[in-house]
Amino acid sequence: MLKDTVAKYRPFPGVHLPNRQWPARTLTRAPLWCSVDLRDGNQALAVPMNVAQKLELFQALVKCGFKEIEVGFPSASNTEFVFNRLLIEKGFIPDDVTIQVLVQAREDLIEKTFLSLVGAKRVVIHMYNSTSPAQRRVVFGKSKDEIKAIAVHGAQLIQDRLHRLKGTDVTLQYSPESFSATEVEYAKEVSEAVMDVWQPTPQRKMILNLPDTVEVAMPNVYADQIEWMCTNIKNRDSLIISLHTHNDRNTGTAATELGLLAGADRVEGTLFGNGERTGNLDIVTVALNLYMHGIDPQLDFSDLNAVREVYERCTGMTVPPRQPYAGELVFTAFSGSHQDAIKKGLAEWEQGARAHWDAPYLTIDPRDVGREYREVIRVNSQSGKGGVAYLLESEFGIELPKDMQREFGPIANDLVDALGREVKGEELKAMFWKEYVERTTPWSLIHFHADGVDGVFRCRASVLRDGAEQKLNGDGNGPIAAFVNALASAGAPKFEVAYYKEHALSAGSQAIAIAYIQIKLADGMVRWGAAVDTNIELASIKAVLSALNRA
Ligand code: KIV
Ligand code: ZN
Repeated sequence: MLKDTVAKYRPFPGVHLPNRQWPARTLTRAPLWCSVDLRDGNQALAVPMNVAQKLELFQALVKCGFKEIEVGFPSASNTEFVFNRLLIEKGFIPDDVTIQVLVQAREDLIEKTFLSLVGAKRVVIHMYNSTSPAQRRVVFGKSKDEIKAIAVHGAQLIQDRLHRLKGTDVTLQYSPESFSATEVEYAKEVSEAVMDVWQPTPQRKMILNLPDTVEVAMPNVYADQIEWMCTNIKNRDSLIISLHTHNDRNTGTAATELGLLAGADRVEGTLFGNGERTGNLDIVTVALNLYMHGIDPQLDFSDLNAVREVYERCTGMTVPPRQPYAGELVFTAFSGSHQDAIKKGLAEWEQGARAHWDAPYLTIDPRDVGREYREVIRVNSQSGKGGVAYLLESEFGIELPKDMQREFGPIANDLVDALGREVKGEELKAMFWKEYVERTTPWSLIHFHADGVDGVFRCRASVLRDGAEQKLNGDGNGPIAAFVNALASAGAPKFEVAYYKEHALSAGSQAIAIAYIQIKLADGMVRWGAAVDTNIELASIKAVLSALNRA
């Protein structure tokens, strides 16, 4: 990289907008959405989608609630043309969905585009030409007037052919491509020249799409450009101002949100931000950002995993694990303190204690987009006792007492650390079983029976001690106390039961009970034990031996 950066690069000149209004505004409703997955997104794929893939993605977009879908560039390839015809002729377009097609301001391409649209119910014809200084200079070698003439000529070619689409509800759209790199005064001049041809009215508006074709500045600059256009362009009430941001500086979302504050009505983008270079705007993110502020996005992402699957299958792209809302890891915490806070937040929400969502570390309830609480907390060496306990409880119903979590957490953490990877709930359960439930030496239970009369319990038991059977008898104020006394009289180390808890692990006649016991030895040392059995009394007796075996 250069030391003398300024010798090669220069700051982007902002827009003079001393009285800008957008910073003081807030968003209160969803914009009109237009998916450009099948056109802009498709153009960016190394292997563009075939007709079947485009159809599958189209249907997924319809299911998400998109009412405007740019289905392609029908003059650009046979596949694109055939796809249009398929949609129209086979009736794949719901009545409330408008298909949009892109075309350059060239006669041959406009001709083919019109052919591709015959018989459609509702269409947007989207014409564009590039207007920025670099495009004028490098690509076209034309003056400002000559570039404007391209736009006007294209607009006229379209206007002249509209009669061919009788019975079709046609909306016209113009994009001064590379708008954000174009002088606003000139973008206005060209757009107004197109308006002069198409003559939009408040009843029959045209769409003026103002693309951030390549992000060249901070999002506040794009917002200024949008507000400037909204304020200065003629007949604003005859226009639907549309945003189309890319993501070169990784601020496509911010640019769109600020552009909406600046007065735009409509947003173009793609699922998960697929598109040229660093991508188009990710519509899922903007929609769910609205959702998290209590604004109905008018799009349905309640099964975001399914949308992601279709997207990945059709485009061959993958959604990164950190992709907002949709990534595999975005609702997941590995770190102990985060897990603890999330666990408490989810518990508070489950208790119905709050009207509005305010759980630490979770911007929205994962279940609203079809994600599960169980994927929220995952365990690796960064995780603490809370995460371990959460997985054992949420996946297996094992409700470790708090104090036992403190004992087992570090044990599990050491084992996970040694593995050097994430562990699943099953593995944690196996660790727990090995540490407690399967601790059957030196003591294990063969038989236990206790009877109680007037609050005094007498037990008869046989145990294996270092492989040899031993009979035991003892009295106490309950079966456990009787067994503890029996063990003492058989020469086991002296201890008392400091804590006891049991619960069922599964419902039904085959219900298994789990018991947790904490014992305190004569020297003050405490140890936990746990055991399972279909008989709750036997579970607790075995749990005593589990603790003793760990002493
Ligand atoms: O990024 C862009 O400018 C485009 C136009 C064709 C709208 O995709
Ligand atoms: Zn684009």
